[in-house]
Amino acid sequence: MKKTILLTGGAGYIGSHTCVELLNKDYDVIVVDNLSNSSSESLKRVEEITGEKPVFYKINVLKKEDFRNVFKKHAIHAVIHFAGLKAVGESTEIPLKYYHNNITGTLTLLSLMQEYNVKNIVFSSSATVYGEPATLPITEDFPTSTANPYGSTKLFIEEILKDLYKSDNTWNIALLRYFNPVGAHPSGKIGEDPNDIPNNLMPYISQVAIGKLKELSVFGNDYSTHDGTGVRDYIHVTDLAKGHIAALSKLDTAPGLIIYNLGTGQGYSVLELVNAFAKITGKAIPYKIVNRRLGDIAACYANPQKAAKELNWKTQFGLNEIVRDAWNWQTNNPDGYR
Ligand code: NAD
Ligand code: UD1
Repeated sequence: MKKTILLTGGAGYIGSHTCVELLNKDYDVIVVDNLSNSSSESLKRVEEITGEKPVFYKINVLKKEDFRNVFKKHAIHAVIHFAGLKAVGESTEIPLKYYHNNITGTLTLLSLMQEYNVKNIVFSSSATVYGEPATLPITEDFPTSTANPYGSTKLFIEEILKDLYKSDNTWNIALLRYFNPVGAHPSGKIGEDPNDIPNNLMPYISQVAIGKLKELSVFGNDYSTHDGTGVRDYIHVTDLAKGHIAALSKLDTAPGLIIYNLGTGQGYSVLELVNAFAKITGKAIPYKIVNRRLGDIAACYANPQKAAKELNWKTQFGLNEIVRDAWNWQTNNPDGYR
């Protein structure tokens, strides 16, 4: 029998790509999303890619009674919990909104899961929980800390899930710490669709390349990295989506509480990304060097060996495919889903 997976936040960037991979693997998919940072058009595109439509509920996970109806109606095997607010800068300005949405939203979800005896969950955590790592690459046993309310919500939710598991080890919980998700589905039909001026590097470069933004500001060239600009582990969103399926399979065969880095293991600097983008797209990427961005660290990349060994999961796409697919998405959808 097909397993039904509930995706909170499934209309968003990573959620929509995960819908595609789940439908391709013959899971039934239910999406609960309030569309606060996404559009239901993404789910129509998922159907264009896969020929199948996820069941969609426009519900805020904070609205418990509305959300309850989804649990009443469907026999859910597992939940992948993407729903959350994710803008770091905004989280420092309106922290209560972030704590309420991300943490109360998770508590609401978990209490419904408990009530309806759905005890398999995959949670979208982030490499941000490692703070500024003392050494590189980062393994899952590194100490954790946070520097902003967004990061704190990720770390607190991890702690909540660990406590839940301690209290009742019939729960099966995967904490997936994403490095920097970028790129788009190779079809060019779904991708990242920022509402406003992008905060993150890759969508910003794409919009400079297409002429929507004038130039990139490179936040600092005086870091202790090989060219002075920040180094990150950019992972293709399709590889990341597949990591969720690997985690679901792991929870089915070897239950418990598991933590994995989802990254490539390879760090690239801002300038390397700019150069790759210019080379692959043939477009000039004008940039200027400006001051460091508050809260940024010099370098961050994963040791992905644990996921490779235990989940049998490895990234397949490199920087060229990342840029190719980001550009394909950007040129096919210059205004995103609008
Ligand atoms: P996204 O904003 O595209 O997707 C999140 C989705 O959750 C959106 O569709 C939004 O409408 C929905 N949502 C938010 N609050 C909700 C609520 N109360 N009820 C129902 N739906 C709600 O972001 P994404 O990039 O796809 O990220 C998915 C998850 O992964 C988030 O939890 C994010 O923090 C985490 N994450 C993202 C990154 C990244 O760089 N994109 C890195 C690490 C972790
Ligand atoms: C950011 C968040 C992080 C979050 C992640 C995924 C901050 C401080 N960190 O990570 O918590 O988990 O997104 O959502 O916001 N850069 C520029 N110019 C730009 C944009 C970025 O030079 O216009 C540089 C940054 O300094 C960094 C690199 O590009 O070195 C990547 O930045 P970004 O894409 O924002 O991701 P992170 O900062 O790694």
